[in-house]
Amino acid sequence: MYEKSIELLNKAVADEMQAVHQYMYFHFHCEDQGYESLSRLFLRTAIEEMHHVERCAERILFLEGEVEMEAAGPVEKIHEVKAMLERARAMEDQSRKEYNVWANECAAQNDAGSRKVFEGLIDDEERHYSQYDLEVQRLAKLGERYLALSTLKGGEPAVGEAD
Ligand SMILES: [Fe+2]
Ligand SMILES: [Fe+2]
Repeated sequence: MYEKSIELLNKAVADEMQAVHQYMYFHFHCEDQGYESLSRLFLRTAIEEMHHVERCAERILFLEGEVEMEAAGPVEKIHEVKAMLERARAMEDQSRKEYNVWANECAAQNDAGSRKVFEGLIDDEERHYSQYDLEVQRLAKLGERYLALSTLKGGEPAVGEAD
């Protein structure tokens, strides 16, 4: 009865898993290059995307579907900060647009529960989009100074690093 919702939720699981992999890749490459604050931003966001996988998976199980744990695509081997931020911003933009469509498709199947799951994800993806967009703008404005500033420790701690 809820096949369409289960299919869409599994597509979201695949997108979210791809995002987890991609952001973790950016996280440890930023760390390797000494960009502490960006490294933490990617880690924090990757952890949030992992929670999105969980929310979708819980909904799929509630609808008595099977969770397909396959990433939607491979990790892109991007090492340059500007390209990382632009890629991340594009991924968030795509997610928020897709989730809006999928929320409506679930609602059209009289599945308000799945619609709400997608609406919750949209709030987070819009916030992620704004974060990455802000970093892209800062980099464009400050150039090398931006990169120098992002090597400094401090700022917002990553999840689990509050101490
Ligand atoms: Fe997400
Ligand atoms: Fe996101």
